[in-house]
Amino acid sequence: MKFFIDTANIEEIKDAVLMGVLDGVTTNPSLAAKESAPYRDLLKEICKVVSGPVSAEVLATDFEGMVKEANELVEIADNIVVKIPTISEGLKAIKALNQQGIMTNATLVFSPSQALLVAKAGASYVSPFIGRLDDISSLGMDLIQNIVTIYNNYNFNTEVLVASVRHPMHVVEAALIGADVCTMPYKVIKNLIKHPLTDIGLKKFIADYKKANKDK
Ligand code: G3P
Repeated sequence: MKFFIDTANIEEIKDAVLMGVLDGVTTNPSLAAKESAPYRDLLKEICKVVSGPVSAEVLATDFEGMVKEANELVEIADNIVVKIPTISEGLKAIKALNQQGIMTNATLVFSPSQALLVAKAGASYVSPFIGRLDDISSLGMDLIQNIVTIYNNYNFNTEVLVASVRHPMHVVEAALIGADVCTMPYKVIKNLIKHPLTDIGLKKFIADYKKANKDK
């Protein structure tokens, strides 16, 4: 499973690159709003440190506007993937951009029917938002299982990109289902490595060594 980081913060991205686990980045207007630099400047900076796919979202909601913005965004770098909202106009944009050879990420997906349509339209990635489903007492991970089953049934090439990830078990469960990609906040990447027995064991190794070697 590929690991993407869900942030527009350059320091978090650089640290994840150093950890050797990063395959790509996803951003959205809310994440960009947390940073001080303008969105397109941030994207340029991000694409300098990450060679994998970097998702950048359009703000337009009409077909012509989305296609125009997408064409501007891909000028920033070769690895830009354009995030398109999963609405009727978005389907038209996904189809047109696919014909142009521009990669797309269908965002704000909450149902198997939406996932089926964006795959048919030719999206490169589908982004089901599992945390937001969990937030309203619906099982987000069931959606991932359903999409993976549908895509396997018909050999769709669209990659399942698990989004709105809130904790390490979301990542583990996505991997068990066989999702292609999981995008997660920096703090989730950091929490995935933690285990109290690792910390206790490490402390003991160091203490034992120091004790045995204090007079040497
Ligand atoms: O990748 C989508 C993600 O940014 C949404 O996450 O936590 O706002 O639901 P969240």
